[in-house]
Amino acid sequence: MHCYSKLSLLALASVASVASARPSAPAHLDTRGSSSTAACTTGKAIYITSNTAQNAVVAVPIAQNGSLAVGEGSSTSTGGTGASGVAAGTSNAAGPDSIFSQSAIAIAGSYLFAVNPGSNTVSMLAIDAKDATKLTVVGKPATLPGEFPNTVAASDKYKIVCVGLTGATAGVACAPYSTSGIGAVDALRPFDLNQTTPPGGPLNTVSQVFFSGDQTTLFATVKGDPTVNNTGFLAAFPLENTRSSCHVAPSVAASGVISSPSGTAVLFGTEPISGSTNLFVTDASFGGAVLSIDASGKATTVGKGVVAGQAATCWVAISPATNTAFVTDAGVDRLVEMSLTDASIQGTPIDLTAVSAGDPGLTDIRAAGSFVYALSPGNGTTDASVVVVNALTRQPVQHVSVAGLGLSKSAQGMAILV
Ligand SMILES: *[C@@H]1O[C@H](CO)[C@@H](O)[C@H](O)[C@H]1NC(C)=O
Ligand SMILES: *[C@@H]1O[C@H](CO)[C@@H](O)[C@H](O)[C@H]1NC(C)=O
Ligand SMILES: *[C@@H]1O[C@H](CO)[C@@H](O)[C@H](O)[C@H]1NC(C)=O
Ligand SMILES: *[C@@H]1O[C@H](CO)[C@@H](O)[C@H](O)[C@H]1NC(C)=O
Repeated sequence: MHCYSKLSLLALASVASVASARPSAPAHLDTRGSSSTAACTTGKAIYITSNTAQNAVVAVPIAQNGSLAVGEGSSTSTGGTGASGVAAGTSNAAGPDSIFSQSAIAIAGSYLFAVNPGSNTVSMLAIDAKDATKLTVVGKPATLPGEFPNTVAASDKYKIVCVGLTGATAGVACAPYSTSGIGAVDALRPFDLNQTTPPGGPLNTVSQVFFSGDQTTLFATVKGDPTVNNTGFLAAFPLENTRSSCHVAPSVAASGVISSPSGTAVLFGTEPISGSTNLFVTDASFGGAVLSIDASGKATTVGKGVVAGQAATCWVAISPATNTAFVTDAGVDRLVEMSLTDASIQGTPIDLTAVSAGDPGLTDIRAAGSFVYALSPGNGTTDASVVVVNALTRQPVQHVSVAGLGLSKSAQGMAILV
């Protein structure tokens, strides 16, 4: 509704400008026009990794009205092996939040990349242009110089894929990719986490790798462990050779800048804030924060939002419809909406217990058009399911089981095709 009314205003504005024979519409109308168009573009499909022994990418198409058509979903083997971390200090497989990360699967153009924590590889899959659920593995899964890959980022602009690893040998490694698959993987940029394989988490593990909005910096968030005074950090690695065309391919610098923005401890999920160099990050120890990044890649805290009653605020998606962040908590079944300016909490939390059939909480989340999609992998008793919420009305529009597509408590990661 909101979107339609914005679009009709735009239509009226263009009619008016034609009628009065003005050369072009005022700049502010152009800007509003393009952003409201993006805000109204419903996604085509969501993708989730099963992270089971035979790892698979599950694709679920999105209907015109934003709801998921689970019956038309598909499952495609990645050719790699899934694996779960363990709850620290135990041998119990973790789940929900089996690999302690955001972005276990990432999309770049018409390609998907998915980590295989059990085989130390990353897979590349092509999305069919006519059918978003038809996926084809491209080349062979690429072997990584470390253990337990749990997060992946890909730059469509520079055709580079980077993976975060959080096992006994932890860090970040990158590779170029092309239409024929993933190329040679570079040397590990190590993180000294003193972890094991499989890792004991969620504290003291790599959380997410991601590119800046302009794709010229690769970032990694790493969780600290406040119980042993181990502070988490953000690592920033600049891209090199981004301007050369013929003889030197773009690559990610071997060393980066590490910073621990004040007041943060367990940095987890993140999304760059468009139109700025700021980042929205979650921090499992309190809620969310907005960070500003200087030219060297160092982060400073701009604002912090403390979420009352939280267990572990870990995943975030920015809604183009509301221009706000929606965060999830693996231990509380609700969405919390936060400001992109200072991370202040917007309105009351969106409680989902009435529609969710006992979801223990929510993990990965993505947004497109007016809707946000959040995964509840379940806990082995409850089904893995996805809840769809209209970000503008803040009302849930669908809660649906995805167990029939082979997803269970080990499921992790979500990517969305717009
Ligand atoms: C959305 O569309 C689907 C498929 O066309 C339909 O089954 C479903 O009932 C619709 N949902 C709502 C809330 O209108
Ligand atoms: C590394 O972890 C082991 C247990 O896995 C512990 O005994 C050791 O003290 C740790 N080392 C450091 C430097 O934290
Ligand atoms: C953590 O550091 C603070 C300040 O240096 C100190 O007071 C506290 O005892 C330390 N805690 C642990 C668990 O080492
Ligand atoms: C899973 O969550 C449900 C609902 O919160 C709870 O009843 C059940 O005991 C949990 N199962 C496990 C294995 O934790």
